[in-house]
Amino acid sequence: MPRPFIAGNWKMNKTIGEALEFAGALARRFPPPQQREIVIAAPYTALHALGRALRDTAIGLSAQNIHWEEQGAYTGEISARMLLETGCRYVIVGHSERRRYFSEKNKEINWKVRAALKAGLRPILCVGETLEERADKKTFGVVRRQLKEGLNNLGPGDIRHAIVAYEPVWAIGTGKTASPAQAQEVHRFIRQLTAEFFGKDVAADMPIIYGGSVNPGNIRDLMAEPDINGVLAGGASLDVDTFAEIILS
Ligand code: PGA
Repeated sequence: MPRPFIAGNWKMNKTIGEALEFAGALARRFPPPQQREIVIAAPYTALHALGRALRDTAIGLSAQNIHWEEQGAYTGEISARMLLETGCRYVIVGHSERRRYFSEKNKEINWKVRAALKAGLRPILCVGETLEERADKKTFGVVRRQLKEGLNNLGPGDIRHAIVAYEPVWAIGTGKTASPAQAQEVHRFIRQLTAEFFGKDVAADMPIIYGGSVNPGNIRDLMAEPDINGVLAGGASLDVDTFAEIILS
């Protein structure tokens, strides 16, 4: 069983000063060692300062995106090596907002996952269906494809460091959470697929986390499901008291 994994995705929120204030308060509340893996995914601009502030604390640092090349003429992009240098150890890949607003496809998401793993960053690969796809009973097909293509060309050794986040698009930022049973059903499916692709042992150890309107009121029931190993909270991770409540639930 993987250790519970609680991550906050700040998206395009928080200046460097705001990020440092939050991180300081969080690190004081949760000194090492912690039973749970606690991670914050901050905007690029705050990563360097946060990397220093969070060194030797129980709080891990994640980026929200990465480019697949190591360096070169890719204006506006950031590579794995640059992220590592800030103290970042995780990176969110394939978030539905990136798929939707920046037209990211499974193919380049896979390149990003591979670039992250090759450099020693742990990718948090996001998958999940839209409301329309759920209504059309396509949830399992969509998730299967996102996972198969997103994890293409990887071996069991690589996957050991990956995290999968199931984030139904209809539940993100909408206040509509998937019910624990709905989420568990897809999480179990993701674990079965991972076992099919990479073997049972790898699948049993892989953190599969849920995201989509997670808050202190619903986390306990979600975490009680056998295949839900943690959460990726967006809106509820912006306030340190609320996020702390989520961690403690
Ligand atoms: P939300 O976002 O918690 O605000 O729904 C979750 C996410 O997009 O990771």
